[in-house]
Amino acid sequence: MDQVWKVYRSKEIEYTAVKGISLTVEKGEFVTILGASGSGKTTLLDLIGTLDSPTKGKVLIDGVDASSLSDRKLSLLRNEKIGFVFQSYNLVPYLNVLENVILPLMVYGKDNEQGIELAKKLLTEVGLGEKMRKKPNELSGGEQQRVAIVRALINKPPILLADEPTGNLDSKTSEDVLRLLARMSKEENITVLMATHDPDLTKLSDRSIYIKDGQIEKDVRMRR
Ligand SMILES: Nc1ncnc2c1ncn2[C@@H]1O[C@H](COP(=O)(O)OP(=O)(O)OP(=O)(O)O)[C@@H](O)[C@H]1O
Ligand SMILES: [Mg+2]
Repeated sequence: MDQVWKVYRSKEIEYTAVKGISLTVEKGEFVTILGASGSGKTTLLDLIGTLDSPTKGKVLIDGVDASSLSDRKLSLLRNEKIGFVFQSYNLVPYLNVLENVILPLMVYGKDNEQGIELAKKLLTEVGLGEKMRKKPNELSGGEQQRVAIVRALINKPPILLADEPTGNLDSKTSEDVLRLLARMSKEENITVLMATHDPDLTKLSDRSIYIKDGQIEKDVRMRR
């Protein structure tokens, strides 16, 4: 991100949610984005994920300026490179857990035995081995959240953006999800950006970026 600003404008009011943020994230880094509610974490992830465009400044993905791409090229880039875990889970209500997870594989015709085995393995890893045939409305919020995380990882996207992925989870399940993200980041060289307001969740990440009022307050690299 190069000097990125985001101003939300409605009829009467203007709100500057991101104030000139410059940030470089390396391939394979596991970055936690920390900050109070309203500090700008979701806005930042939406900008990085090219779901929203900056009012000023540039967002570059692998050196490509997102604003230089057509809508079609931009959606191709998102499909190929970015996995999303939204703060709301966006599961498909009429598909069961396993079907929700393998949905992104179908886009590439990779919903074969191997893909289904990976889906089952990851679901088991986050404690959903017994719930694979359930529909989202038969699951708790935390269970739906875990399905959304596995769905975002199934294609092993080069970049994973996760917005409060453990917001609805107890400490043990949070730990499982955190370990899964850290493992995928290391083994598959996936760049992970995870937003949270819980400082405890930084323990497995390589780097913690603290956001306050739309600016970077602190950028800390962990040595391991
Ligand atoms: N569409 C919008 N129009 C106007 N203001 C907005 C809009 N979206 C977000 N904001 C404002 O921008 C600021 C940052 O919002 P953002 O959702 O990025 O915060 P956050 O750090 O993700 O908070 P939380 O931890 O509660 O999810 C907030 O003050 C919010 O009210
Ligand atoms: Mg948010």
